[in-house]
Amino acid sequence: MATSTASSALTLAIVLPTLNERDNLAGLVARLEGALGPDGWEAIFVDDNSPDGTADAARDLALNDRRVRVIQRIGRRGLASAAIEGMLSTAAPYVAVMDADHQHDPRLLPQMLASLESGEAEVAVASRFVEGGSAEGLSSARRETGSKLANGLARRLTGVELSDPMSGYFMLPSKTLRATADKLSGIGFKILLDILATADEPYRVREFPLRFAQRASGESKLDRTVVFEYLVGLYDRWLGRVIPTRFALFGTIGAAGVVVHMAILAAFLHTFGGTFHGQVVTPFDVGQTVAALVAMTFNFALNNELTYADKRLRGTAALLAGWLKFGLTCSVGLLANIGVASVLVRYDMSAYLAALAGIVIGSVWNFALSSRFVWGR
Ligand code: GDD
Ligand code: MN
Repeated sequence: MATSTASSALTLAIVLPTLNERDNLAGLVARLEGALGPDGWEAIFVDDNSPDGTADAARDLALNDRRVRVIQRIGRRGLASAAIEGMLSTAAPYVAVMDADHQHDPRLLPQMLASLESGEAEVAVASRFVEGGSAEGLSSARRETGSKLANGLARRLTGVELSDPMSGYFMLPSKTLRATADKLSGIGFKILLDILATADEPYRVREFPLRFAQRASGESKLDRTVVFEYLVGLYDRWLGRVIPTRFALFGTIGAAGVVVHMAILAAFLHTFGGTFHGQVVTPFDVGQTVAALVAMTFNFALNNELTYADKRLRGTAALLAGWLKFGLTCSVGLLANIGVASVLVRYDMSAYLAALAGIVIGSVWNFALSSRFVWGR
């Protein structure tokens, strides 16, 4: 490596989070060597147990190449936490994070490193939106617009002046990372934003123009959830300490579940309800049961998809077991809800306040138990 004093000393670790990137690894290591020379660096693949055997492919490489390292995580998901774990696992004084799918050009690495080593910058970011960069590799126009909007929002909200705070390609001294690692949320994709926002004093950032290439092989894992993850990341940063992010998600989904419940109940009563010879034949109990089951299933599905995206249950058996456990948890929660509310009413609290208190207690119960017994590992 051109910049390090002793050519064999480890200077830079390149952290490469992977999810189903098997066919991209060998070519990537070759490109890293092309950009950085034969030594002074290591490539750390952090794989979330990809079904395509990415971790095995990485180990095959590592067997004959001491510059390649592998972290295989079981039962966990997430780009940000994978990047943090990789960055904390190296002795190299500088760390970079890069996509493993060839969308990020490794030829920027030496310039980024030089700017850190000279002290010119404290964080080096490869940006698609500075002069000379381009975002043509973004798969859709909608995604490109979304990316620009999110950048604007990030700037306004965190005060970080950057043209591409969403970039997944950056470098910094590893001690900088270690100094703030305990404050990083590890949620979502926006790890750079998180790092920049945890600084007491804004970092001196230098941006390097990146031509965001098309992915070499496989598909993007971000398209579907990117906006959601981003918003969750922002929430986590501002309010996560007051109302924990997962609980906020759980509660919001719960509130949506109430709407679903009421809609189903109304539809049910509308369809089957009525009077007959002056007798009410509205099968309220049946309607209520159906509505509760549908709402519970709705809540289970959304929580599995969003609140516990990183611990998502997959496969029919796991889903069925999870659904049953969730139902059980919620029934106990409902009893707690009713119990608390009726006690409060007896102590002269207004009915609506008591109901609200019951709902809060029931939700906390549901959250605490389901996070352990449904999605806990
Ligand atoms: N370990 C791990 N766990 N790796 C993951 C996960 C995960 O849950 N999700 C994605 N990855 C890996 C992918 O295998 C790839 O190497 C890299 O992280 C980026 O994922 P992509 O799925 O290729 O993301 P993208 O190309 O759509 O998004 C890129 O642009 C975004 C901005 O628009 C990335 O560079 C993002 O970091 C960036 O924010
Ligand atoms: Mn990509």
